[in-house]
Amino acid sequence: MSYHWIKIFETEKSFENYIQLNTFILFELKGEKICITRTEKGFYAVQDKCPHNGASLSKGFCSKNNEIVCPLHRYSFDLESGKATSGGAYTLNTYPINVKNDGVYIGIKAKWWEM
Ligand code: FES
Repeated sequence: MSYHWIKIFETEKSFENYIQLNTFILFELKGEKICITRTEKGFYAVQDKCPHNGASLSKGFCSKNNEIVCPLHRYSFDLESGKATSGGAYTLNTYPINVKNDGVYIGIKAKWWEM
């Protein structure tokens, strides 16, 4: 799998300071809306658009089971795998987050025509 790695923060510290526990940041990167959140298990990035009916997941909340819960109909998704844990057989796109010495990067899968 080939990724475009896009720097979203200059340092790990600034990333941690910016995103508090169970809060969200919405980024639009390479035409994709991405919701980044932080739970006690770590940082996660998933597609912002709920696959059920299009609500913005960054307006939802995190559960204590490490899920993101949609604000509209309350379907929930595992933040690690992106798989729905309630509501239907949906799966969110997930994005890797890579913390390096020179910044925090998010990986966007390259499209087939970009490889
Ligand atoms: S729009 Fe998200 S659960 Fe319906």
